[in-house]
Amino acid sequence: MSKNIKKITITKPDDWHVHLRDNFILNRVINYTGQFYKRAIIMPNLYNPIVDCKKSIAYRDRILKSMKFNCKFQPLMTCYLTESTSIKELERGFYEKIFIAAKLYPIRSTTNSNKGIKKIDNVYFILKRMEEIGMPLLIHGEETDLNIDIYDRESKFIENTLKPLRLKFPKLKIVLEHITTKEAIDYIKENDPFYLSATITPHHLMFNRNDMLIHGIKPYFYCSPILKRKNHQIALRQAIARGDKHFFLGSDTAPHLDHHKINKTGQAGIFNAPSSLLAYITVFEEMNALNQFESFCSKNGPKFYNMPINKEKITFVRKPFKVIKKIQIGNNIIIPFLSGQTLNWSVYI
Ligand code: DOR
Ligand code: ZN
Repeated sequence: MSKNIKKITITKPDDWHVHLRDNFILNRVINYTGQFYKRAIIMPNLYNPIVDCKKSIAYRDRILKSMKFNCKFQPLMTCYLTESTSIKELERGFYEKIFIAAKLYPIRSTTNSNKGIKKIDNVYFILKRMEEIGMPLLIHGEETDLNIDIYDRESKFIENTLKPLRLKFPKLKIVLEHITTKEAIDYIKENDPFYLSATITPHHLMFNRNDMLIHGIKPYFYCSPILKRKNHQIALRQAIARGDKHFFLGSDTAPHLDHHKINKTGQAGIFNAPSSLLAYITVFEEMNALNQFESFCSKNGPKFYNMPINKEKITFVRKPFKVIKKIQIGNNIIIPFLSGQTLNWSVYI
């Protein structure tokens, strides 16, 4: 593949990890995801989390109502696991296709995770049932013990929690979300992708902790899991460039109002929906791996979730694309990932 390539057409992608929030934020951000992606997995960590079927159906309706175009966009809903999740409710949600998966947040690991799981053993009875019915478990994989260094949270989670969990439930389908470390890549690639896969974000592919912390702290790079050192970034880039089927697109687009990000305690999350797909293609090109771009965006995810690959296509052209600087929401703004920067590829409309 070379710089001579001017146009690429691939199967329309899906985003397997998205935060849309609710109400006025939802209304403003949804079309960025709807514009580029056919389907998206919607994370359930609202301020009042989506913990049952009723809440999920109502939230899905609000999402669909807020779409201004692309009525074909499909939100795929998830259930927020708590220690009091009812197995019956979860099972009904899965069988009636209200939930595609359940999301496990260790308590206080990230935004709105204070109803998350204190001790994984407390939900083993739920995971057992999920394994039996083939319901995927999506994991925010970070240890939250404050004695563990923030940069080691993911690798320690793999050792202390994920490995024992997989020994106990080897047939439970698991997605380790937004992985950031070489340890995650090395562990995941040794396993059957039908049972263990991972999403990777554009920001963890494009940047490392130097970008966040040298020449002034950059709050717009602050996310959870936090950006790691460069060797980890390289491991992520190499994994997607070699076309490893364990890894697929999950942008973790996570809008926060600017005054919540630029604050004494700024919130974790990067709103990348306006540029995520074009950021991914940039990385694939830099890695000289445009031939692996389609599998990552459009094939590996559906294969894991046992869903059809989209029929629609999307075409990219080598034409400068300027990322929107900010989005206005009443008196508030949200600053997107790569705000105001120019990328080499655009979507051909
Ligand atoms: O940076 C993040 N933001 N990581 C997450 O896991 C959650 C997300 C959010 O909801 O803001
Ligand atoms: Zn997320």
